[in-house]
Amino acid sequence: MTATAPFDFATVPDIRCRWGAAGELGEILSAFCPARRPLIVTDTGVRRAGLLDAALGSLRAAGFDPVIFDQVQADPPEANVIDAAALARASATDLVLGFGGGSSLDVAKLAAVLAVSDQPIETLYGIGQVRGARLPLVQMPTTAGTGSEVTNITILSARDSKMGVVARQLFADLVILDAALTVGLPRVHTAASGIDAMVHAIEAYTSRIRKNPMSDSLAVAALRLLSANLLTACETPSDRPARESMLLGAMLAGQAFANAPVAAVHALAYPLGGRFHVPHGLSNALMLIPVLRHNLSAAAAHYAELAAALALEPGEAPGASLISHLAGLIRAAGAPQRLRDVGVTEADLPLMARDAMAQTRLLQNNPVEVTEADALALYRQAF
Ligand SMILES: NC(=O)c1ccc[n+]([C@@H]2O[C@H](COP(=O)([O-])OP(=O)(O)OC[C@H]3O[C@@H](n4cnc5c(N)ncnc54)[C@H](O)[C@@H]3O)[C@@H](O)[C@H]2O)c1
Ligand SMILES: [Fe+2]
Repeated sequence: MTATAPFDFATVPDIRCRWGAAGELGEILSAFCPARRPLIVTDTGVRRAGLLDAALGSLRAAGFDPVIFDQVQADPPEANVIDAAALARASATDLVLGFGGGSSLDVAKLAAVLAVSDQPIETLYGIGQVRGARLPLVQMPTTAGTGSEVTNITILSARDSKMGVVARQLFADLVILDAALTVGLPRVHTAASGIDAMVHAIEAYTSRIRKNPMSDSLAVAALRLLSANLLTACETPSDRPARESMLLGAMLAGQAFANAPVAAVHALAYPLGGRFHVPHGLSNALMLIPVLRHNLSAAAAHYAELAAALALEPGEAPGASLISHLAGLIRAAGAPQRLRDVGVTEADLPLMARDAMAQTRLLQNNPVEVTEADALALYRQAF
């Protein structure tokens, strides 16, 4: 046996996992804290789909007086945070409830901070730059992908790319998982967000720094759930066990990568989101296979461990079976396969490679160095 290297691990303190919890939100929050006037941060798609109805009914029946900010945009810009925080102040809200996909949950985190702070938004970026406290924060995801409900990270669209805020204040006080909310998620989004969650588990497991026994256990458990249920959730959207497994798997992957951060798949995916507005999960799916191949020289043993955890037949080379398994899942899920299918032209690739180099926070975690020339070669492979 070898000694355990020192490690740090943090996550949210309170998680409730219940099918149909949205209809019990009033009781859950009443028992949780004295707040009465929550700001609900969501988007118009979630609202139009009627996902908020049961939650609102339950909150009002329990005597809450909620205020709704429903203007979150996918891959949210800074303006969404500023507007949500302004509404929180103007209406004297005493709690922020993120309700939606990763975009809504990310905006909710910073709205809770800026509702009680005058810190300029552009000074929040980076690691540990948030000063002071925030309003109480509760998160309810409606997609099974980002794991944002349990991460201390917000990703905003700024400066033609995606910029991250990482701070302990962004861990929620309470997370409520209700997989019934994910049943109506369209197939393309089920596939893309599910693949995003798988990428979180894989990149956490192979993260060069801060990988630890807890993040490893969570990543393996997440990948097992996600890999076994992705196609069922795509093909039979109302399959309750598949939806529950995807939501739980996405959260476990979120707990893993909040501690063992993601790496080059995300770094190369970000320019696709920032410049071309390709949805986050899809941009990860497009870059996953080229980056995994690039990483094989250092990560083959880890990939082989993950392949064994998924009970895959060993391939011709260590780790190869994991890569072919994932390529098969992406194909079968029906997501677009190539950059050319999502509006990128070959002439865009050098600029994207340059942009990706700015993601130093992520690239430093990659098991193999990625230079600008490597990034360009990887984009060419994905094109
Ligand atoms: N903070 C983190 O740790 C973290 C991690 C990964 C990704 N992200 C960020 O999360 C964002 C992506 O989040 P996302 O993939 O969850 O999507 P999203 O929040 O951007 O939502 C995408 C679309 O799906 C719709 N939608 C959401 N739930 C639905 C449901 N149940 N039924 C029908 N439609 C529904 C929304 O209305 C929206 O139109 C990106 O900005 C990404 O950068 C954050
Ligand atoms: Fe992601």
